[in-house]
Amino acid sequence: FWMGCLSAIIAYIIGSISTSTLVVKLVSGRDIREEGSGNAGATNTMRTIGTKWGVIVLLADALKGMVALWIAFALTKGSVVAAAVAAIAVVIGHNWPVFFGFRGGKGIATTIGVLLWLAPIPTVIAGVICLIAIALTRYVSLGSLILTVLVPVIMAIWFMQPAVLVASIILALLSIYRHRSNISRLIRGQERRIFDKSSESL
Ligand code: G3P
Repeated sequence: FWMGCLSAIIAYIIGSISTSTLVVKLVSGRDIREEGSGNAGATNTMRTIGTKWGVIVLLADALKGMVALWIAFALTKGSVVAAAVAAIAVVIGHNWPVFFGFRGGKGIATTIGVLLWLAPIPTVIAGVICLIAIALTRYVSLGSLILTVLVPVIMAIWFMQPAVLVASIILALLSIYRHRSNISRLIRGQERRIFDKSSESL
């Protein structure tokens, strides 16, 4: 039990390493939380300093999730429950980072990292649908929401372990909560699209 608690704390600390905030600061000297959507994530990094850096942040944030689960598994000798708790803790760290005034991102890249580890096939299926949605609409937020909501649905069909299913439902709820402003912009038709050069989209 104590190892499970320790791995959750470590996961929260790893999640709190806000790579987008660090990368944008180092590359451009700017604070990503004052740019674009104001979100400390891969999409806004791409919007602020370019696609290459956005992809790097996406991979680094996904890796954060995987490292947190790897540590949880190692400390608890493979407890799925500990890994499920660490998955939620690392995303909470990403969204509300202790090192950056609790102003973080929306957790999608980190969620992809933990879900790929916990349930690779459902995540890849949902990921493909998410990419199609983004390609068709150029709304990353819509694709992100589709991904996080679809994973538990596919998992339920797939008969995943209950702890993993519960974790994926919590991750979906966290993602919906963090995308509140995106959801209202989507409804109003005012959401930013990626690869849109018009100034009002930035
Ligand atoms: O992963 C975050 C993405 O879904 C939306 O980002 O910056 O457009 O709010 P943003």
